Amino acid sequence: MSQAVCETSLPNRAPTARGKVRDLYDLGDSLLLVATDRISAFDWVNPVGIPDKGRILTQISLFWFEQMADIIPNHLISADLADFPAEFQALSDVFGGRSMLVKKCEMFPVEFVIRGYLAGSGLKEYAAKGTVCDIPLPKGLVESSQLPEPLYTPATKATDGHDINISPEKAAAIIGEDWNTRASEAALAVYNRGREIAAERGIILCDTKFEFGVLKGELILADEILTPDSSRFWPAASYRAGESQPSFDKQFVRDYLSGTGWDKNSEQPPLPDDVVEQTRAKYLEAYTLLTGKKDL
Ligand SMILES: Nc1ncnc2c1ncn2[C@@H]1O[C@H](COP(=O)(O)OP(=O)(O)O)[C@@H](O)[C@H]1O
Ligand SMILES: [Mg+2]
Repeated sequence: MSQAVCETSLPNRAPTARGKVRDLYDLGDSLLLVATDRISAFDWVNPVGIPDKGRILTQISLFWFEQMADIIPNHLISADLADFPAEFQALSDVFGGRSMLVKKCEMFPVEFVIRGYLAGSGLKEYAAKGTVCDIPLPKGLVESSQLPEPLYTPATKATDGHDINISPEKAAAIIGEDWNTRASEAALAVYNRGREIAAERGIILCDTKFEFGVLKGELILADEILTPDSSRFWPAASYRAGESQPSFDKQFVRDYLSGTGWDKNSEQPPLPDDVVEQTRAKYLEAYTLLTGKKDL
């Protein structure tokens, strides 16, 4: 197993920005979006990485971008190291397989969440008010219930990085009615196709988050798509409404952190080797199930 790549840099250059998982290098009109092996849970990044996780996420996104290309243009220019600036090519061990050269877009400050089932913050709101993002839902739904139809349930980021659910009307007020309609329709179409393809492979696509941007007036699907980090994937074989479903990837991390009594408000305790290995195996399993490929 290779070593985890938790932070990247060039000999004379640090990334322009670091997200929770990705390092971003601004190349003018384009960006190099590098998925590291960092793992976040409960909005905190663990000091220990999961070897190959970034490669797995990038390869899963590439698989989906191709499947969705006729629905909506995406930001990908190339994931081939040979197309990157020479300074990145020289560090193929670090950047190879985990990086995408993408068109730099003006990103909407809205997360385009699509839900097909009731879980997470959607379930909480439904239990309290019978709605999700202020959209009324039928009575009698339970945890993990399939929704009558997939719903656009947008969110914005608070200044501390936490997501706040908002109504579709609020999203329209933030980004404009027309963009909101176009992006949410594209998001629903991509979700629906993704859900069909995942179902053929024994996976329920519970919900997922997309990011869109604009380039020269054109709507562009950006960031990562339909990965275990941006979605809830459930094993279809063990699915039962009325209870929580095992998350495909981060269950071991969440269970471990809960067991340590970590307060969710400070640096996480480092993941032990067995949790790292189990988690890596789960990401690989998702990759293999979805793409049919074994090797990265
Ligand atoms: N094509 C693009 N143009 C501009 N920004 C992008 C593009 N694709 C993704 N991004 C941004 O790059 C960042 C990816 O880093 P990530 O670690 O996933 O961040 P986060 O912690 O917000 O999830 C996000 O801020 C995302 O909005
Ligand atoms: Mg992200």
